Amino acid sequence: MVAYLDNAATSFPKPSNVIESMTAFMAQNGATSGRGAYQKALLSDQLVFQARSKTARFFNHPDPKTVVFTKNVTEAVNIALKGFLKSGDQVVTSAVEHNAVWRCLKMLEKNKGVCINVVPADKNGQTSPESVERALTFKTKLIVFNHASNVLGTVQPIQAIGEMANLRHIPLMVDTAQTAGHFPIDMQDSHIDILAFTGHKGLMGPMGIGGLVLSPNLDIEPLISGGTGGDSAYPYQPDYYPNHLEAGTLNVPGIIGLSSGIDFINETGLEGIHSKIKMLYNYAVHQLDTIPGIELYGPLDAQKTVGVIPFNLKGCPPEEIAFYLDQKHHVMIRAGLHCAPSAHQLMGTLERGACRIGLGYYNSKMDVDQLVNGLRGYLRNKGAVLCI
Ligand code: ALA
Repeated sequence: MVAYLDNAATSFPKPSNVIESMTAFMAQNGATSGRGAYQKALLSDQLVFQARSKTARFFNHPDPKTVVFTKNVTEAVNIALKGFLKSGDQVVTSAVEHNAVWRCLKMLEKNKGVCINVVPADKNGQTSPESVERALTFKTKLIVFNHASNVLGTVQPIQAIGEMANLRHIPLMVDTAQTAGHFPIDMQDSHIDILAFTGHKGLMGPMGIGGLVLSPNLDIEPLISGGTGGDSAYPYQPDYYPNHLEAGTLNVPGIIGLSSGIDFINETGLEGIHSKIKMLYNYAVHQLDTIPGIELYGPLDAQKTVGVIPFNLKGCPPEEIAFYLDQKHHVMIRAGLHCAPSAHQLMGTLERGACRIGLGYYNSKMDVDQLVNGLRGYLRNKGAVLCI
């Protein structure tokens, strides 16, 4: 039996309706969307529009037209940040951003003189809304926060930050890579103006699809220009959505997979998914804590995290542990810095990195037991491990 515990990187397995709908589209339709007027192309348009509507409803956003599809959350973040921030603007961000946001902001700092103000966090990555407010200045153009850290799992107080930002008339952008599909997200209630999502993690879709859900009236310059299927004689990117930010042929199979992933979540129930992951998180923390020399990081409180647990074994290289678990116990986890060095800085693991498990809806207590058994095996065989 294999234990897949890397759901924070991508969810696996995918629900059967996701696989079936994508396969059916590719086998029986295969037409582009927004370009043809024959029946198959019109059906493709309809499926894409349904996916926009479902995505908008899922995040309680009123307008499907301002759902923009991209190839992943990194592209979505780049489109929003590079298209919205101008020279001399200040941006306020968290101390636990993934490189998708952090490197993008650093490029903007270098190339456009955007000023980055990082809100301090404790060693668990927790931030208070008051410290976000203290970081604002009259130049603040945007607050950009991840909803939950991909390393620590820590969930940020997005609702309180959104309420405060709304009172100050500062737009809030949220990177939901680790929370969409695991955690209820209400854009209107939380005053989120720009939501960046990925389809292949909690939303249960395939890799290669992500997007933005946008409030109207935000001035975002397109990052990519090109064909939109209409207004072809007009020399610029159209100013209406979604075409304004969608150039080139869309990933229709991916969009259909995302749509089916959302169906799966709606049918299963978000609350049930969230509760199951919380139960597994508590079980995993309890079981891992019995291992000699283990260092567990993060809030270690299921109410404050998504299903992500970073850990180290005293004196043991995380990559070696992950390699051993895979080779000898068929347990898949991710080790290293997880593209988020600032979270490791808070944890004190920037030099050596950490192991990370990412729990998903399809995991069971048996997967956690297999991990714990594997870690005990690693400790027993430590001296010999390098020779596998
Ligand atoms: N950002 C993904 C992760 O956390 C890939 O593993």
